[in-house]
Amino acid sequence: MSPVAHLDAGVSSEARDPSMSRGPSRMPHTAASALEKIRTIVVDDHEHIARLVANRIATLITEKQAAGERTVLGLATGSTPIGVYRELIRMHREEGLSFQDVVTFNLDEYYPMRPDSIHSYHRFMWENLFAHIDIAARNVHIPRGDVPRDMVDEECRRYEDAIAREGGIDFQILGIGKTGHIGFNEPGSGAESRTRVVHLDAVTRRDAAADFFGEEFVPREAVTMGIATILEAREIAILATGEHKGAVVKRAVEGAIDVEVAATFLQHHPNTTFYVDRAAGADLTRIATPWLLDEVDWTPELTVRAVVWLSAEVGRGILKLTQRDYAEHKMSSLVARYGTPGAVNGEVFNTLGAKIRGKSKLPRDQRIICFSPHPDDDVISMGGILRKLVENENQITVAYMTSGNIAVFDHDVRRYVDFLERLAGEGKVDPSSVRPLAATVYEFLEHKRAGDVDIPEIQDIKRLIREAEAVSGLEVMGLTRSHARFLNLPFYQTGKVSKDPIGPPDVAIVRALLEELKPDLIFVAGDLSDPHGTHRMCKEAIDEALAELRSAGTGTEEPGTGNTPQSPSVPGSRFPVPAVWLYRGAWQEWPVTDATYLVPMSQEELRRKIQAIFKHQSQKDSAPFPGQDEREFWQRVEQRNKDTAATLDRLGLAEYFAMEAYVVH
Ligand code: F6R
Repeated sequence: MSPVAHLDAGVSSEARDPSMSRGPSRMPHTAASALEKIRTIVVDDHEHIARLVANRIATLITEKQAAGERTVLGLATGSTPIGVYRELIRMHREEGLSFQDVVTFNLDEYYPMRPDSIHSYHRFMWENLFAHIDIAARNVHIPRGDVPRDMVDEECRRYEDAIAREGGIDFQILGIGKTGHIGFNEPGSGAESRTRVVHLDAVTRRDAAADFFGEEFVPREAVTMGIATILEAREIAILATGEHKGAVVKRAVEGAIDVEVAATFLQHHPNTTFYVDRAAGADLTRIATPWLLDEVDWTPELTVRAVVWLSAEVGRGILKLTQRDYAEHKMSSLVARYGTPGAVNGEVFNTLGAKIRGKSKLPRDQRIICFSPHPDDDVISMGGILRKLVENENQITVAYMTSGNIAVFDHDVRRYVDFLERLAGEGKVDPSSVRPLAATVYEFLEHKRAGDVDIPEIQDIKRLIREAEAVSGLEVMGLTRSHARFLNLPFYQTGKVSKDPIGPPDVAIVRALLEELKPDLIFVAGDLSDPHGTHRMCKEAIDEALAELRSAGTGTEEPGTGNTPQSPSVPGSRFPVPAVWLYRGAWQEWPVTDATYLVPMSQEELRRKIQAIFKHQSQKDSAPFPGQDEREFWQRVEQRNKDTAATLDRLGLAEYFAMEAYVVH
């Protein structure tokens, strides 16, 4: 099953109906919509949200233009609305959508902040939208982060006046922070608040740390429109994507209005729509536990999920669940379907048990590519299975998709250059090539400021550091450097945290590898979200390459399962579509309910996997992008793999030391 296919039940029908995509969609009145105090639309992915919201904006602009009126848009920054802006730019270029009669007001700006800084929201908006459409610069308004402190209040008043002069905001786009902030209205912002300077919450500053190359460089304050300013917009679209937003989406949509969660104030607004992708909507009751709300269609997937949930709720193994447990948790209809609780229990128990795959049940003698977005995801996320696949004598290639070079500290570069100089000093390498390189590197690093893009020499050194670490990690797995391919996809090579979109050159590189190696099975990082999106983009490149191969007719046979050897391929001939096994990145594991396969590991196997992770020394101790979790990667891995095994144990299945989980696509 698809990892999220079971969510279908919760996706509103309007969201699937293209005819509804040019106007605000209304949810049918059901038990779910009674619980949800903001109209909420759950769609497949962020592109779908982008299309819906951009269509709505385009309709508004066109209607107002026809009536001879200007459209006033309230805009947000951050990662979430970028897709909407891309779609608006496309509509401008391809469909002639004009922004000449559009006036914009942005929600916020860091304070202090120069407009030309790489971190400024002025720059963000020009780079991501305004520079690519026909909007007049005088119609663009963004709070200023560069006014002296004693003039900020006056500037905020002027901002409010300017909005009022335009007749108020017609359509406001919002993102949502993990604190529930909208704009930068952090916990404690009141319903009456207006444009003003605010202190940023510690969580918000930590979330922004990667963009600023360190939390200490994130400004402590910001200028933001207030809650009252936002609520005066005639229509509001609030957007959330990614599982890291799941909890706050549920809180904002289903929870009580609370000054500690600014987004809950939107429950008062008469025309707000919350657009979420499947990952961000996964915690909503109608999706997480729909049987608590209404009659449900007990599909096999939903049955497994519900029984596993029930077992955790009552704290007993699956085979010990009773009629009373089912009745008390609104699951009697499930028992009725099976006749007895024992029958349901047995079915789910066996389903979970069948997912367990030790070495003897894993692929043997096959061609396998493990696509690793960064050089370390292979061992972090699938170090256990990788070793077993080596032992099963498969032909393995690990394809590192990006260099991961922005995550290497400058001090590591200094260390390696120093090492090179020492080698040169002893005559082991040519000093005349080492010295100029060392001088260039030291000179740049001496004057480098936080956030400066590295010169090519340093980007290359950082890339090579990670390549060498990756090979060292593979050796722990029993592989050699000949098993590694470094694809160095172009989309990643910006030198910045933000990346280019996936383009034809990226897809071509992946496709060429697939055509060359003709794998029976590929492993892909299947993250629904990750802190900086690289995993998601790498998956996009693989998906597109596979789609191209399919439509080119080179891979039109049925996909393999990854368990049975495919017929040998002749160069240039058709080859089977490879089986695709998805693994999770460093942050989360697949829940046992979603996993297709659960791969047990012994203590020694887990120890070996951790040894391989240790080889990624540049990411040890304090990786530059550790996310919210302060533990090192190996610690998270150890916990996550032991937790998966413990979950199975609690459900009453076998007691393993540790486990990895995979979803077959
Ligand atoms: C940005 C803004 C913020 C963001 C929020 C979510 O102008 O006002 O409220 O919308 O922090 O940010 P992302 O989209 O990056 O998760």
